[in-house]
Amino acid sequence: MGARVSDRVGSIAESATLAVDAKAKALKAAGRPVIGFGAGEPDFPTPAHVVEAAVAACRDPRNHRYTPAAGLPELREAVAAKTRRDSGLEVPAARVLITNGGKQAVYQAFATLLDPGDDVLLPAPYWTTYPEAIALAGGAPVEVPTDESSGYLVSVEQLEAARTPRTKVLLFCSPSNPTGAVYPPDQVEVIGRWAAANGIWVVTDEIYEHLTYGEARHVSMPVVVPELTDRCVVVNGVAKTYAMTGWRVGWMLGPPDVVKAAANLQSHLTSNVANVSQRAALAAVSGDLEAVHHMRAAFDRRRLTIVRMLREVPGMECPEPQGAFYAYPSVRGLLGRELRGRTPATSAELAELILDEAEVAVVPGEAFGTPGYLRLSYALGDDDLAEGITRLQKLAAEAEEPGDHGAAR
Ligand SMILES: Cc1ncc(COP(=O)(O)O)c(C=O)c1O
Repeated sequence: MGARVSDRVGSIAESATLAVDAKAKALKAAGRPVIGFGAGEPDFPTPAHVVEAAVAACRDPRNHRYTPAAGLPELREAVAAKTRRDSGLEVPAARVLITNGGKQAVYQAFATLLDPGDDVLLPAPYWTTYPEAIALAGGAPVEVPTDESSGYLVSVEQLEAARTPRTKVLLFCSPSNPTGAVYPPDQVEVIGRWAAANGIWVVTDEIYEHLTYGEARHVSMPVVVPELTDRCVVVNGVAKTYAMTGWRVGWMLGPPDVVKAAANLQSHLTSNVANVSQRAALAAVSGDLEAVHHMRAAFDRRRLTIVRMLREVPGMECPEPQGAFYAYPSVRGLLGRELRGRTPATSAELAELILDEAEVAVVPGEAFGTPGYLRLSYALGDDDLAEGITRLQKLAAEAEEPGDHGAAR
């Protein structure tokens, strides 16, 4: 008798970020004062004019029906216009495919581009969904590790060293989840030119495009390297920019043959995204960026606070993130040290201990391909943020030096 669950689907790991969030929410529901740094979602409500557009859409029977699988024509037009406005990429509406969140765009991009035997260069730390989406599509992720010494930025030399005749795609994400790193424009250009020169496709995830701080700016790879346009898929969505994670609207932009093939796939998979959500997304992308600027100012303030406070946690080292809303400290200095009777050997064990002992939820670096780190989202209220990191500081201060067993008791 064959296995009950197929090898392909049985090999998918649960999303570690969603799992941490679910555990933290369950503990909270049970009355525990858990502070969650796990979820990658803004704590703000969706802007009121977007919600109003959705309410009106609910009342319009046209939105109670199926619509074209690739998305409402008005929304595809508006995404094309927004892309021109925000990143300078000229793309006709026919090359926009509206998806159920950026996540479906990532999956469909790989499903459309990869055959068995194709490799995808995946700079690590990476967002936890990429390797699963690549593997589901029959490809193989080839991790290219980075660390805090380069600000978590991959170099073209590293990419070239990892390239083989099987390399078909490079996954590029800036600003990055989980590190908050933002590639400077010249490095985006060098990497894009290298990809174009070697006939490598780029899937570039721009979902955090508006969340950059200080001097950092997002630039779109096909804009700085136009010769890449025919081998480039851009992934984006409304979730992070407009505090719309629950509405499930994203999109992919790409060459006509790829977008057409991905739309065929989507027509058998999920058909159109819920029309009410598409109408909400239409209000978001065709409106101004005022709400985004307001949220970005709050994230920036929290970013500076969390970095300052994390740097005071004994055993942690935290580079300053330039974008998104994550800090990614190294916690190697805390591993192998006794803490409340336990000795965490890995960041996964440390994250569990932190949840149990400090009631603070964080995601271990294992979820992003780099053990020895923690990811903390700072998209939470200022008071919770300060309280949560204070708890971490107190807990870490109790860690005993290796070989120091019992001395502090
Ligand atoms: C880098 C990155 N890309 C894409 C997504 C997908 O977002 P959504 O499916 O909510 O639009 C996320 C969400 O966490 C992300 O962090």
